[in-house]
Amino acid sequence: MTLNFSQIKCYFIKNTTLQKKKAFFKEAVKSIKTSGTIVPSSKYLIQKILKPIDFSKAKVIVEYGSGNGIITKEILKRLDKDSKLICFEINTEFYNHLKTFKDSRLLLFNESCENIKSICDQLNILEIDCIISSLPLTIIPDKITKKILTESHYQLKENGYFLQYQYSLSYYKKIKKIYKNIDLDFEIRNIPPAFIYKCKKI
Ligand SMILES: C[S@@+](CC[C@H](N)C(=O)[O-])C[C@H]1O[C@@H](n2cnc3c(N)ncnc32)[C@H](O)[C@@H]1O
Repeated sequence: MTLNFSQIKCYFIKNTTLQKKKAFFKEAVKSIKTSGTIVPSSKYLIQKILKPIDFSKAKVIVEYGSGNGIITKEILKRLDKDSKLICFEINTEFYNHLKTFKDSRLLLFNESCENIKSICDQLNILEIDCIISSLPLTIIPDKITKKILTESHYQLKENGYFLQYQYSLSYYKKIKKIYKNIDLDFEIRNIPPAFIYKCKKI
């Protein structure tokens, strides 16, 4: 059997994607108490979560819980050349992987996003256009989640978005206390299917 160039290319792409999924699975299982999942987000979920962002205007975007960078890559593809993406990832293996991305617009922090305020102060950032969060809110201690949500709201600019996906609606009431304007979406083509909270600061 002879393969043509596009079949060989397709084989390598599929193989690399599979390897990335396996690597994510291995690390996520090892740190399940902080990762909250074993499968990276699907392209359908990523498309939906990034939809509200106007990339032609966004100057500062923040990502919480970048993991293996599956959403990070998509943000970088769309991000303006003069804008910045600040990523928080507590898992050192994932953080080391993110460091291989080599993009001058990307600022990586191997620390908890509960430090959002002090990092913004350090970087002289007055306001954030949008926060994209994959944090497993339900397994993070309440006190920390509260701090993350309130400080994120504070750092966001008016009409800015806090975009969060979750596998249930159990956090809806708590988020609603902070963001009065929440638009809910759902993506079935994800493992597991996920709700997307599109929270607007008004
Ligand atoms: C569900 S995974 C999401 C990975 C990737 N963004 C995706 O969508 O496939 C959640 C990630 O959040 C990270 N994480 C958990 N708590 C965190 C915190 N307080 N600050 C920053 N990252 C955190 C975990 O290490 C994990 O990589």
